[in-house]
Amino acid sequence: MSDAGTTFRLIYSSHSRIPTADRETALARIFDVSRANNKKAGVTGALLITDHYFVQALEGDEAIVTGLYERIKDDSRHDQVSLLESGTVESRAFPRWSMAQVSKSGHADIPLHDVGGRIHPAARATLRVDEIEVLTRMRNVIGADTV
Ligand SMILES: Cc1cc2nc3c(=O)[nH]c(=O)nc-3n(C[C@H](O)[C@H](O)[C@H](O)COP(=O)(O)O)c2cc1C
Repeated sequence: MSDAGTTFRLIYSSHSRIPTADRETALARIFDVSRANNKKAGVTGALLITDHYFVQALEGDEAIVTGLYERIKDDSRHDQVSLLESGTVESRAFPRWSMAQVSKSGHADIPLHDVGGRIHPAARATLRVDEIEVLTRMRNVIGADTV
């Protein structure tokens, strides 16, 4: 994803309201819709998923990203939406992902961590420095040990 102007990045955390039994289907739907919409809007990012929380990074044009955040905030599938950081950045941390799934298991594009509490070496080798840096900040919000 190339940028004509500056890139804006926003990171928020929220609490999932999705019942465990519906989790897989509900998450698949969120990713399908998000990837289709984000691709069209030039938005990239990552959604970190734990049993009870989400942390999402959204990056792209400022007006588009803030508009998307306003829409996501109103989504009844989560609550306690809390803005963690927002501002212009030099480049995208997730240029390859319309929305990367970051989690411990399941269909993760990027594993959340292995038993040692670290991102798996195989994944690390394919990650870029700013990708790792932003992912670490996202993980630290909820604490790797409590997920
Ligand atoms: C945790 C979470 C993350 C989401 N992330 C995105 C996203 O990155 N892009 C997106 O378009 N919708 C995302 N959504 C869904 C939006 O809230 C909304 O349902 C969707 O954008 C509506 O799309 P539509 O207008 O095409 O129906 C997310 C929802 C949740 C609960």
